[in-house]
Amino acid sequence: MPQYFGQLPSNEQPWQTLSAIQESQEGHTVRFDCGQSCLKINVLASNLIRVRLAPTGEFISRRSWAVTQDDTAWLPSFEVKKTDTTVEIQTEQLRVVVQKENGQIACYDLANRPFAVDAAGMGWRLGTTAAWKQIAADEHFYGFGERTGLLDKRSEVKTNWTTDALDYGSLTDEMYQAIPFFIALRPEVGYGIFFNTTFWSRFDIGVAQPGIWHMETHAGELDYYIIYGPTPAKILDTYTQLTGRMPLPPKWALGYHQCRWSYESETVVRELAQEFRDREIPCDVIHLDIDYMRGYRVFTWSPQRFPHPEKLIKGLAEDGFKTVTIIDPGVKYEPEADYHVFDQGIARDYFVRKADGQLFHGYVWPDKAVFPDFMRADVRQWWGELHQSLTEIGIAGIWNDMNEPAINDRPFGDEGEKIWFPLDAPQGGVKETDCVTHAETHNLYGSMMARSCAEGLEKLRPNERSFVLTRSGFAGIQRWSSVWMGDNHSLWDHLEMSLPMLCNMGLSGVAFVGCDIGGFASNATAELFARWMQVGMLYPLMRGHSALTTAQHEPWTFGDRTEKICREYINLRYRLLPYIYTLFWQAATTGALILRPLLYDFPNDPQTYTLHDQVLLGSSLMAAPIYRPGVEHRAVYLPAGTWYDWWSGECYMGPTHILAHAPLEKMPLYVKAGAIIPMQPVMQYVDQRSLDPLTIRVWQGEGEFTLYEDDGNTFAYKDNAYTTTKFSVNTEENQVIFAINQREGSLFLPSREVIVELVGVNEQRFNDDGTARQLVFNLKPQ
Ligand code: GLC
Repeated sequence: MPQYFGQLPSNEQPWQTLSAIQESQEGHTVRFDCGQSCLKINVLASNLIRVRLAPTGEFISRRSWAVTQDDTAWLPSFEVKKTDTTVEIQTEQLRVVVQKENGQIACYDLANRPFAVDAAGMGWRLGTTAAWKQIAADEHFYGFGERTGLLDKRSEVKTNWTTDALDYGSLTDEMYQAIPFFIALRPEVGYGIFFNTTFWSRFDIGVAQPGIWHMETHAGELDYYIIYGPTPAKILDTYTQLTGRMPLPPKWALGYHQCRWSYESETVVRELAQEFRDREIPCDVIHLDIDYMRGYRVFTWSPQRFPHPEKLIKGLAEDGFKTVTIIDPGVKYEPEADYHVFDQGIARDYFVRKADGQLFHGYVWPDKAVFPDFMRADVRQWWGELHQSLTEIGIAGIWNDMNEPAINDRPFGDEGEKIWFPLDAPQGGVKETDCVTHAETHNLYGSMMARSCAEGLEKLRPNERSFVLTRSGFAGIQRWSSVWMGDNHSLWDHLEMSLPMLCNMGLSGVAFVGCDIGGFASNATAELFARWMQVGMLYPLMRGHSALTTAQHEPWTFGDRTEKICREYINLRYRLLPYIYTLFWQAATTGALILRPLLYDFPNDPQTYTLHDQVLLGSSLMAAPIYRPGVEHRAVYLPAGTWYDWWSGECYMGPTHILAHAPLEKMPLYVKAGAIIPMQPVMQYVDQRSLDPLTIRVWQGEGEFTLYEDDGNTFAYKDNAYTTTKFSVNTEENQVIFAINQREGSLFLPSREVIVELVGVNEQRFNDDGTARQLVFNLKPQ
């Protein structure tokens, strides 16, 4: 619903707030009592504070769905000081000041700059809890999970309620993902807020009251974390420590994925694969959409269209393709039909029931359907094991869809309403007393389905990494799955919006993300498709997809010129894979973004705060894509420092704006001085051959890069079977010194040729056996 429809304020009950408080300390927790109510502040780390308010004074013990470690696992050190009017908690990085008069909180950094300052404290009324804080004049807001529109969310309202956001546009509020986390940033100061509630919740960033942000949830307790940065990188490091980090995906998942609803038969799939190889357009993954199934029954194959799936998948694997199948949560309601998924689920009482004990059903692709209760560990295990029928015939990854869950009250195709499970439906327990209601678990349905899938695949294939993709999820979804942005359209503004959407997902802890290249619904023009493939090369998940009844959207369907552009940019993606895989490793170990808005690397430069149409892939490579028809020029902002044009080598001094010329064949790309980008030869798929030669492109200046390598497929990296090699570049008056440290780690790499290309100067080659060396490049005197 567009945000301009609303109501005049009604006669809602007024909020109750804290009055004078009495402080006491219990271990890491400072406790404040106020009549019946109780406020607790836990110090978890020197930059991480948890605030909890129980209006009734009783903190209900509840399962923590997103937070990975118990409060007691953190080992903070802090001091508590009291003045006449305040209680102050001091850590090594910040000070939290609590007013004795009303429990209001303000934080300060070591330079005494305030942040996360209460505007009206915390409040509650009729099962709802809330908090209000001040917005600084120059503050900007990012993250909020999956969001349409541009980058900065100041002056917007953002609701956290997972929804099938079909036909979304820039005004859409509820999306497939619900991640109640954001980052507030101004020069020198940045903090994150994780609103720890799975219930319906909402952020209002200065809409109801200018200068005040507000968060509210239909939960009886208020629970949130304040994460001090000041940089977004530091905030995400801590936030992903709290909610978990993504595991390293298989390396092939970083290649190009081709999808369509649907490649509807074995013949069509084989022809598709052949076309990629014949045309020499690299591709690693083919996705099979719902029509591979027998009448949309999950964990079955259509006997007419896919009579020999094992043979098909084996054949594809021989040509270097991995196959991914879609799995939806809706299980066809089909008693006495020998459909094993329905029969087992019913026999074991695994499907969601209503509060009165009746089985819940709704309508999805297979018509009348029932839904597993993924909140239950036994159901997750069962569902995970069901994937065996797919893994044993070679399926390499699973695509989880419709898991908001998307449900209609009438058969698809009839005029119907979207529904969800009744909010009082009991979930998560075998016995009713162990259950919580759907009001608490709604936002978790997609995450718990993805978790069931990821854990199942890991059990079924303990030595091989799998690829998991999901449409819906909650905070922490990065632990189990990659995410795509659902049903976008073949529209220029959706191409434009894809970058801020993916950047805000990254700023919400989910780095492995993508949008459907070319647009899912409606039909792309050749020009839109070419521009989209250029941008898609930057997406951490690079997948082309299109809907039933749209025109074909494969890279060759738009004529020679577009095909050539697609090939060139997919080739570039494959050439950059050693660099991109290292970015994935950084994301897996520190929560770093792979695709970044410029503010991530330049958080003190206000010019970057609303810059939604330029992105960094890692910290070295910057893209300024074209996302308008007929446009061949655009303004590009180059932040402080020296920048080089990737294509021409031309050098610019930032901060500055330049006008880039970008005919259809060209997406403007820039690198920072001192950049070091490891590259490989073009391959038709990731494992086609070993990385030889390794080309390291280096630009003059000062810089470092640590290349990460492992086998790309197994979990051996967890037992140290990986290597890292640190490179650095130093530039002196007449020479550039490129140093390669001794390779570290216990993975054996065969010797290989390395080409170090000092861009614009010359190149040197050597045989790499992992030993340290220094290369000196002489510059011509000016
Ligand atoms: C949903 C998905 C889309 C998929 C279609 C059919 O609309 O978002 O990606 O192709 O269902 O399964």
